Amino acid sequence: MSQSSNRIFFYFLFFFLFSSHLVFSQKSDTSQPWMNTKLSADERAAMVLKEMTIDEKIQMLHGTGMVGLSPMSPLAIHSNGGAGYVPGIPRLGIPALQMSDAAYGVRVSGENGRYSTALPSDIAGAATWDLAGAYEYGALIGRELRAQGYNMGLGGGVNLTREPRNGRTFEYMGEDPILAGKMVASAIKGLQDQHVIGDIKHYALNDQESGRNAVNVNIDKRAARESDLLAFEIGVLDSNVGAVMCSYNRVNGDYACENKYLLTDVLKNDWKFKGFVLTDWGGAHSTEKASAAGLDHEQPGWIFYGDELKKAVEAGKVPKSEFDDHVQRILRTMFATGVIDDPPQKSVVDVERGFEVARTLEEQAIVLLKNDHEQLPLAASKVHSIAIIGPHADVGMISGGGSAQVDPPAGNAILPPGKGQTRWLEPVWFPTSPLKSIRAKVPGATVQFDSGADPEKAASLAAKSDVAIVFAYQWESEDMDLPTLSLPENQDSLIAKVAAANPHTVVVLETGGPVTAPWAGQVSAILAAWFAGSKGSDAVANVLFGDVNPSAKLPVTFPHSDADLPHPTIVKPPRESIPDNTKPEPWKEIAAGLAPFQVTYDEGVKVGYKWYDAEKKPVLFPFGHGLSYTTYSYSNLKVEPGKTPRVTFTVKNTGKRSGAEVAEVYASLPASAAEPPKRLVGWSKMMLKPGESKEVTVEIEPKYLSIFNVEQNGWQLLPGEYGFMVGGSSQNLPLKQTVSLQ
Ligand code: BGC
Repeated sequence: MSQSSNRIFFYFLFFFLFSSHLVFSQKSDTSQPWMNTKLSADERAAMVLKEMTIDEKIQMLHGTGMVGLSPMSPLAIHSNGGAGYVPGIPRLGIPALQMSDAAYGVRVSGENGRYSTALPSDIAGAATWDLAGAYEYGALIGRELRAQGYNMGLGGGVNLTREPRNGRTFEYMGEDPILAGKMVASAIKGLQDQHVIGDIKHYALNDQESGRNAVNVNIDKRAARESDLLAFEIGVLDSNVGAVMCSYNRVNGDYACENKYLLTDVLKNDWKFKGFVLTDWGGAHSTEKASAAGLDHEQPGWIFYGDELKKAVEAGKVPKSEFDDHVQRILRTMFATGVIDDPPQKSVVDVERGFEVARTLEEQAIVLLKNDHEQLPLAASKVHSIAIIGPHADVGMISGGGSAQVDPPAGNAILPPGKGQTRWLEPVWFPTSPLKSIRAKVPGATVQFDSGADPEKAASLAAKSDVAIVFAYQWESEDMDLPTLSLPENQDSLIAKVAAANPHTVVVLETGGPVTAPWAGQVSAILAAWFAGSKGSDAVANVLFGDVNPSAKLPVTFPHSDADLPHPTIVKPPRESIPDNTKPEPWKEIAAGLAPFQVTYDEGVKVGYKWYDAEKKPVLFPFGHGLSYTTYSYSNLKVEPGKTPRVTFTVKNTGKRSGAEVAEVYASLPASAAEPPKRLVGWSKMMLKPGESKEVTVEIEPKYLSIFNVEQNGWQLLPGEYGFMVGGSSQNLPLKQTVSLQ
């Protein structure tokens, strides 16, 4: 062949190969037309559904087991090591669902030889009142889930702090449904924008851990819709979340995971939720009843949604359309969130970026509760000696336990390196050392540590130091409630003794929620640092020394005592409502349904500050409270009524430092509504330089001013006089105006 015929030959060969490739790829496209990204998620899901066999459908509706909670399937070997695994359908191009717990970071990374950032706990996220920060919170978790090979995260806890002794208070977003709902929605958007399915949990009224698999919560519908369910409503509607996890408890007689009112009437019909409902782990109790109620997916096993479901479908006891709807919802969520078009690629977690996000979020989350005589910020140049006092404040800060637990690098900081594997119901100290971070701020000063085990010794160290900083803690975990809001381990008396020895005593609280503080009047400054995350101690030090001006506000009320709570004690389950863990398969007893015991939320809508306001009970630190190293003034309130009322006002930084202020807007409803005195209806967080003023307008969603009308099954704005109040805390509202709304 000549050179030119050569060229022609190769040209044709190339053309042939290339065009045949086109033909093949077109062929594969037409064989999986649901891979066409121009179609809607619903259309794509419907196409896949048509191709699926009954066994493939069943496989998609349950997990493959978890040791101790269900039988195990041999398929579980392909799990990525997270809490839930659902095999994919390779012949249809549908990937597996790899689910991991991820409340304040990705769980069980240690066990899986991986690393995760621990963010400040969820309630700390809520204390920022910063929607952009919440987005970043979710986005970081989404990125780390992807890097570890997961395409679904099980975070999004938004149960209201109705019972602050609930051991999971740290995993939730506080006591106000609008704050909690908006913050969780923003976090979910951040997470799902990474092409990871998010979930919102535990739906609903799972407000105590004691007897969670048996308790029956009694609450009237209006109160439920205006409180706990409103947090979920906002969370679901504002985020397009892919999944909702139904909770362990019963609500008004039916288990949440087979509760038609919750799952179908409210979630799927009223809120038009398009995603899927999955059980909490071991939260399923039936096949036909659950399916009819709207449960789509069982975890972690297949006690009810395996063979039992198949038999029920074949016998016509579960209608085919109902069965298909469960599958369609899972598929459409997978398409809608991008886990099919953009599956996760395993990579190394970006540790440095995680540190940065964890530290800056914690800096925004630390609430300055008290600061007498401008005790803080500490002037590094003027302080010569500091006493650091408190359990383990030399090595770490406490973290939240249970399925939210993030593994600390090198293990529990209070154990020798490498010996610190995290265990269920065992407190884990994160290696973020207050002592080290504070020493780094004042290299020339004497910084000494005392654990506080002997309060007299600690007090004598405090007496000879310029400043005493006590790191006090209250550990929390899933699977337990706190016996009391008092600090454990005699810390109240330790703090009182230190404060008596040194008038410059600062307390840093590492807690999952509110605590009582009988010593509050004796110390000069208090910071709520929550469970502070991977870089907690650096963030605390930055606030203590004024590198960061605190701007957080309380998402929960700190009461004076347990006696002031709506329920002075938590109702404990009787013996017959507790599973017998000595039996070989305790999940069977739970699945069959433990004997119910009753908890009645007769305080109804009066959750948190609404309770203390209505009952006229003074509190230690009110909801929305948080000081700054500068001061702000409020003026010029204008309320424009209308369909969406607009509340306009001016905030001025009247101090000497730049700062961010959260301006809070509350409303009182007409007397005919018979509601608590006020409710949060909006807020705005703004940065202000010294002397700077900003005019702000907050638009108020009519729903937030409404009552829930049970007869009409809808939100209703009652005509009448509405009071609008604006200021820097629920008990510091200098601006007030009443307007008439029709
Ligand atoms: C918790 C859930 C968690 C699940 C999977 C349950 O014990 O209540 O929040 O997502 O376990 O680990």
